[in-house]
Amino acid sequence: QNPEKTKLLEAYELAGKLYQYILKNTEQGKQALQYLRSRGLHDKVIDAFGIGYAPSQWDTLAQLLERREFSLPLMEKGGLLSARQDGSGYFDKFRDRILFPIHDWKGQLIAFGGRAMGDVQPKYLNSPESMLFYKSRSLYNMHRARPQIRKLQQLVLFEGYVDVIKAWEAGITNGVATMGTALTEEHAEVIRKQADQVIVAYDGDGAGQAAAYKSIPILEKAGCLVKIAMIPNNQDPDDYISTQGSERFVREVIEAAVPSIKYKLLYFRKNFKLQEDGDKLRYIQQALKIIADIASPIEREHYVRELSTEFHYSFEAALQNLNEIRLQSEKNN
Ligand code: UTP
Ligand code: MN
Ligand code: MN
Ligand code: MN
Ligand code: MN
Repeated sequence: QNPEKTKLLEAYELAGKLYQYILKNTEQGKQALQYLRSRGLHDKVIDAFGIGYAPSQWDTLAQLLERREFSLPLMEKGGLLSARQDGSGYFDKFRDRILFPIHDWKGQLIAFGGRAMGDVQPKYLNSPESMLFYKSRSLYNMHRARPQIRKLQQLVLFEGYVDVIKAWEAGITNGVATMGTALTEEHAEVIRKQADQVIVAYDGDGAGQAAAYKSIPILEKAGCLVKIAMIPNNQDPDDYISTQGSERFVREVIEAAVPSIKYKLLYFRKNFKLQEDGDKLRYIQQALKIIADIASPIEREHYVRELSTEFHYSFEAALQNLNEIRLQSEKNN
């Protein structure tokens, strides 16, 4: 293996231990620990996920790396240190942040996600891409969740670090997260290699719901069977677990996840005033378009029947409309 990679891995490992030690054993770590507890993260998961704290001084890690004779330019290139503007040396990349270690699938520490505790921007500062860390492929917690993902042939996809950790405590041990970047085709390929089915459990706010909608074709193109877990009241999984509890999260969010097609119909529905005839007809047209894309004739028929029952149309009329839409799109392709 590339000797620079080996050194950088060694440095990340060391940094992870240092930051964990500072969280748990120092005066400065106390307020960070307090913050984590206030968010409902218990000592057991703090340890299991290797969470740490980078203190507010400028060179805690820089000094340690220098003492241990790591190449500081390499540490900068790898995202652990930053270079001073005047060229006089290096300072720590992460200061006064809670650190969530990010591992590759083998369990080697390759990056950090650093959360500010106050109103500091950005809320999360992540390690930059490096020879170890490719954002478009990495999934947070994959190495820990992999055995369970393979066993269940199911993966739960979250937006954030805390969602994964809280869900883990709630018994959902097959969860991973995309860490701020939009889901890529590469992510989907990685996911497909481990599991047949994906439950997308993104945040319940507008951004999260839109991202969930966009994730569907990406995951389906890779060959995954997709369900969407919906979280009410603009909450995210972490908020939901804190306010409604673990059992309800498992039962009413994860186990209640709906097939992607159902989600698409619900997603569009919100934009129509279904009491009004014009909107109702437009919604039905839109819904038929979504249904027309389903590959399986039986499944198509199932949703046409549901739609016609709900809006009191004859099944035959709805089916005829559907077939016209299918013919039209065949012509267009
Ligand atoms: P969210 O804004 O939903 O944050 O971003 P969160 O996970 O709920 O964070 P908490 O609960 O307030 O601590 C989802 C994910 O997007 C990435 C992080 O990986 C975060 O977990 N993100 C978010 C960033 O990389 N940078 C940011 O400034 C914000
Ligand atoms: Mn399989
Ligand atoms: Mn979010
Ligand atoms: Mn969130
Ligand atoms: Mn959150």
